[in-house]
Amino acid sequence: MSMMNYWQSKIAIGSLSGPRFIGGPIDGYIDAPFRCLIHEFSPDALLYREIYHVAEVAKKDQGFHIMAGEHPINVQLTAHNTDFIEKACEIVIASGADAIDINIGCPAPHIVKSGSGSSLMADIPRLISIVKLFRHYVPLPLTVKMRAGFSICNACEVAKIMEDVGVDALVVHPRLQKQRFKGELDYALVAEIKKEVSIPVILSGGISSLQTAHDAYERTGVDGFLIGRALIGKPWLLKKLAEEVSGKLYEATESVKYNAMKKYIFYAMEYYDDAVLPFIKRQCCWMLKGSVQSGMARQAISAAKNIQEVEQILATWYKESGWVDV
Ligand SMILES: Cc1cc2nc3c(=O)[nH]c(=O)nc-3n(C[C@H](O)[C@H](O)[C@H](O)COP(=O)(O)O)c2cc1C
Repeated sequence: MSMMNYWQSKIAIGSLSGPRFIGGPIDGYIDAPFRCLIHEFSPDALLYREIYHVAEVAKKDQGFHIMAGEHPINVQLTAHNTDFIEKACEIVIASGADAIDINIGCPAPHIVKSGSGSSLMADIPRLISIVKLFRHYVPLPLTVKMRAGFSICNACEVAKIMEDVGVDALVVHPRLQKQRFKGELDYALVAEIKKEVSIPVILSGGISSLQTAHDAYERTGVDGFLIGRALIGKPWLLKKLAEEVSGKLYEATESVKYNAMKKYIFYAMEYYDDAVLPFIKRQCCWMLKGSVQSGMARQAISAAKNIQEVEQILATWYKESGWVDV
């Protein structure tokens, strides 16, 4: 495949296909309303939901709420044993998920302590029994999001096992558990995994621009790129990358940003009940962060007492800064 074809063609994950740039899960930062916003810019982009333990999902009696604008959506679950997997899968599938992902990479202490997330990579027999059960209950595309390993690097071995168990694609964040989200990314390991398996391999870690993706592709040959932290406050980033892949330039203008904030407020009011204000304040501040001289506006938003006040601060700031006609 020529280089041009590679970047413009799609990645296939089981029966799903979409652009090679995928929106990753960032618990506490990228929420359902923000995913709807990403899809306003990039309707066909595949997005991941943040981690949920199967027990948490299975015990909820109100089901699992996916917003209409979140599709196509990959719902991420984790487990520490085979309990609750059947029930959680049934609930998530009934909620309309387009794919399910099993998290075997989360390094957070409370997740590791519970025996789920990245600690599964240190217990292969338990990992196999869990993933096999997911495969049994999930007729949708099934992916696994992993790390380089828990304390030792065994991602290559795990990747082969995942392929044998019938997983449709792998996301690899090539760091060990103790590295959490910092430190060197082991691209050589990802290149080795890519050679070992024939299912798609998606790289997670450090991708924030077309340039970083090009570099990573040259070093690993991966099939896709999961964008995590670079998406925070930038719901237009996947669109920017898609435009750049077609040789066009894209910069989100201030009026695009202002509209994005208004849309976030709209979606957040639908998704959250009375507790919506802190979510709106944080997302607006993150989206404003790259705008020059927005410090005072961000401070005022943080102190706002209600949504109307946030809207007023934004309208005034945009009017006074002369960025947009309000
Ligand atoms: C605050 C935070 C929350 C995260 N939440 C999740 C999560 O819920 N599920 C998951 O698989 N990865 C999660 N990740 C990991 C990211 O999806 C991604 O693999 C990692 O940050 C590396 O990619 P990046 O450099 O593009 O951010 C989280 C990372 C951070 C920093």
